[in-house]
Amino acid sequence: MSQVPQHIAIVMDGNGRWASKRFLPRIAGHKKGVDALRRCVKTCGQRGVGVLTVFAFSSENWNRPADEVSGLMDLFAMALVREVPQLQADGVQLHFVGERSGLSQKVAHGIEQAELATASNSRLILNICFNYGGRWDMVQACRRAVSEGLRPDQVDEEWLSRHMAMSFAPDPDLFIRTGGEMRVSNFMLWQSAYSEFFFTECLWPDFGEAEIDAALRAYAQR
Ligand code: IPE
Ligand code: IPE
Ligand code: MG
Repeated sequence: MSQVPQHIAIVMDGNGRWASKRFLPRIAGHKKGVDALRRCVKTCGQRGVGVLTVFAFSSENWNRPADEVSGLMDLFAMALVREVPQLQADGVQLHFVGERSGLSQKVAHGIEQAELATASNSRLILNICFNYGGRWDMVQACRRAVSEGLRPDQVDEEWLSRHMAMSFAPDPDLFIRTGGEMRVSNFMLWQSAYSEFFFTECLWPDFGEAEIDAALRAYAQR
């Protein structure tokens, strides 16, 4: 096992509580969450991490109040446009992982543009899981097997792995969840089979260089 994880996956949780503690609307926490992600990408690049995968919006997050969902969609569309030039300059290759049907035209277009603009970068791969769920991923892979007419004996772990949404990346070595909850919440169910888990009380907007280094240290000691 290498000292620095090649692939880190993060459940960026705690934005709402960060805002509530300050008597701010939840969306203020999500906005700070974008800042935290920007810092995290920078630090991971500096530490030699090759792939960073973050959970930005789950298949289940549609069940939140309508104003929070629309606030998150607006913020996401805005961040897509605003952050791309710097990501481009830093050599970050963006991928969006998740169900694209059901997203607004604006968000879908932003995703396509951002992927296109950063496709030839190679310093760090950043996977943004949006409208994603680990169960969704397994279901879409199974549907492909059916639509390609495979026989049952042709569907094996190797075939499914190759048809999971993140088959271009190695499985995550380190799985981090901020915000104090100790559950997986439908993130990377297939890919985390052998990941090391790191849970921290730190709320996502407060997650910075020191917290990343603490996670990297814990990983290196396992
Ligand atoms: C995670 O923070 C961000 C998203 C799910 C979009 P939360 O919004 O879940 O924040 P808490 O868990 O309520 O504090
Ligand atoms: C997981 O966090 C999803 C994201 C971070 C995008 P949630 O806050 O939505 O998960 P639960 O509700 O605590 O399981
Ligand atoms: Mg949460």
